[in-house]
Amino acid sequence: MPLHRHKKNVDEDEFKDIYSNSICHTQLPKDELPEKSSEPQVIKQLVQDELFMDGNARQNLATFCTTYIEDEVRDLMDLSIDKNMIDKDEYPQTAEIEQRCVNILADLWHVPDKKNTIGCSTTGSSEAAMLGGLALKWRWRKRREAEGKAIDKPNFVCGPVQICWHKFARYFDVEIREVPLTSNELGLNPDHLKDYCDENTIGVVATLGSTFTGVYEPVEELAQALDVFQNVTGLDIPIHVDGASGAFIAPFIQRKLKWDFCIPRVKSINASGHKFGMAPLGVGWVLWRTVADLSKELIFNVDYLGGQMPTFALNFSRPAGQIIAQYYKFLRLGREGYTAIQNNCACTAQYLGSQLRKMDLLDLLYDGDGGIPAVCYTLKDESTAGFSLYELSDRLKIHGWQVASYPLPNNRQNIIVQRILIRHGVSRDMVSLLLRDLRKELDYLKNNPTYTSSNKVSFHH
Ligand SMILES: Cc1ncc(COP(=O)(O)O)c(C=O)c1O
Repeated sequence: MPLHRHKKNVDEDEFKDIYSNSICHTQLPKDELPEKSSEPQVIKQLVQDELFMDGNARQNLATFCTTYIEDEVRDLMDLSIDKNMIDKDEYPQTAEIEQRCVNILADLWHVPDKKNTIGCSTTGSSEAAMLGGLALKWRWRKRREAEGKAIDKPNFVCGPVQICWHKFARYFDVEIREVPLTSNELGLNPDHLKDYCDENTIGVVATLGSTFTGVYEPVEELAQALDVFQNVTGLDIPIHVDGASGAFIAPFIQRKLKWDFCIPRVKSINASGHKFGMAPLGVGWVLWRTVADLSKELIFNVDYLGGQMPTFALNFSRPAGQIIAQYYKFLRLGREGYTAIQNNCACTAQYLGSQLRKMDLLDLLYDGDGGIPAVCYTLKDESTAGFSLYELSDRLKIHGWQVASYPLPNNRQNIIVQRILIRHGVSRDMVSLLLRDLRKELDYLKNNPTYTSSNKVSFHH
């Protein structure tokens, strides 16, 4: 086609409205590739239109993950969209930035000998938890082999853990001993450890910021209980801290709390950069106390990218932007910024807790004080209330709020709860609007009960 003719077409197209395009008179292909290519602006608009049907992420109060993103982060993400984290020889500066982030975290989490630590970025806490768990398994197995003992029945002990630990157990063939919650417990009680740990225990997983309620498990007390256990049995059981959220909160606003590498028994920690680390979605971190805590067998040396690159993450290719954005966040906010934001979130969560406490239908399980900036509550009595929390979730959706309802884990599954996360970008004012809508919907449901003792069983989500 001659150049001038091509130019003419482009000009003509510039005047066309996107919705006058013939593709707008058809449904978009959903199961097969279309035969022909289309104009990028048209397709972008149509895909974008479809995304309107998703909820508004900023009103998603069920997620721990970053939903407020600065323009500078978008710019840095855009600049690095073509960079693969694994190509460390090709992008040495990005590799150095990843290492700087590891160093900063080693400092924040009190690694005893900062020159002798090891860690890496991951896609999130799930991958980081798998790596932490694998290192525990390898460490245990080596020791058992050296002692000539059986290595076929490894287990780990934990409280109510996030699904990634159930995946770890199944994928890597390790028995999960999830200690059931008794009476009013919301997390792992140190007194129970002695009943669940034995010579096959590769480690105890302590969660700093329960996914279910937001409370912290008492890492220091768990370590002390394991000290006593060691004195009695001779078994030295390490701790991995799943600090998915808390590892980016406690160093700033709970500075007196002992939970990290300052406790000798803590051998590894994972955290989600994309949660309270405030990086965009797609980055987590795992660090070990010393190089010796990560078995050499789990480190692979890759030479086909040029040079000799050690890798121990599960994925090979990964986008670099999130790691660069994490470094940006560290530099931009500093200790001052992280402290101020986490403090504001904690105060807002506690304010929300104080308001919820006044609502006669609700029973507050966690009021936002001492753990993650969040609240968790249940209905005092579902049958007298006349509705379930699932219905309250549905009613809140009318206003755009996404508040999940779900049962507590093992042994307390009969208790249905709601949890509201207060993270970066959830302001006091937003919470006052949420409270307005929550009060309105509680009133609505109270006056329009759907739930009587005779239809109780029909309410399953
Ligand atoms: C305690 C805990 N561990 C692990 C995870 C998994 O993290 P990610 O979503 O970053 O993989 C979560 C997610 O909510 C969590 O709360």
